[in-house]
Amino acid sequence: MNKGLQKIYSEIPKRYELINHLLTFGADIRCRKKAVEFAIDRDGAVRSGEAQKGDGVTWVDICSGTGETVMNLSKQADEKTTVIAADFSLPMLNIARSKPEAKKINFVLTDARNLPFADNSIDLITISFATRNLNTNREILINTFAEFQRVLKPTGRFINLETSQPPDRFFRKLMHLFVGITVRRIGAALSGSKPGYVYLSHSIPRFYSADELSTILNEAGFSKVSYKRLYFGFMAIHKAEM
Ligand SMILES: C[S@@+](CC[C@H](N)C(=O)[O-])C[C@H]1O[C@@H](n2cnc3c(N)ncnc32)[C@H](O)[C@@H]1O
Repeated sequence: MNKGLQKIYSEIPKRYELINHLLTFGADIRCRKKAVEFAIDRDGAVRSGEAQKGDGVTWVDICSGTGETVMNLSKQADEKTTVIAADFSLPMLNIARSKPEAKKINFVLTDARNLPFADNSIDLITISFATRNLNTNREILINTFAEFQRVLKPTGRFINLETSQPPDRFFRKLMHLFVGITVRRIGAALSGSKPGYVYLSHSIPRFYSADELSTILNEAGFSKVSYKRLYFGFMAIHKAEM
């Protein structure tokens, strides 16, 4: 388990959401909603696979943090669907649990790299703005995605929302400049935690392009991978299936 990251997330939960909304001008909120739309699209794949077998349906939001994505997900869930928020930071999960919408959600304190779920038991996994945290290196990220695949049913789906690299050189440079100037200063000033936002300003420009992340998902064993770029490619949503 990454104790350094766990410490960072124990220092920032109170203003975590506000800082994200300010730094992205609210785009993070729209992207999380979009990711949930992608997760539960018109073909209803994550529901129908289960309905045929008559089991319950289980959706897990991994690295759920203060729960913004899982709350969106929970709004789409019917009474037969179990919705789980998983994270290794108790302070982050405690913020999520304090929200009125949390009543319908189950909370699990766990490392994303070693999930406490049975093989082939989950219909949908979502993750938002946390894959950079799991990317200690390329090999570890591939192993983590393979762990997601282990717990997903063969009909299951993985949705990954993360910052990405705009394909256009001008927008890429602009994004790196903006992140370099604002994230560290505004994040540290508002949260009171310098390491958290130094980490963020370092990890965003170094993260994979949408194509590179697709290759990594393929290498982890997902055969059907597609993505949609958002905001000139500053963010991307990947959909991966077996
Ligand atoms: C940037 S926040 C994202 C939170 C939320 N998904 C969102 O959209 O705002 C990253 C979250 O990932 C969690 N996290 C980082 N590494 C983790 C790991 N190895 N296992 C479980 N949770 C982890 C942190 O505790 C933190 O809550």
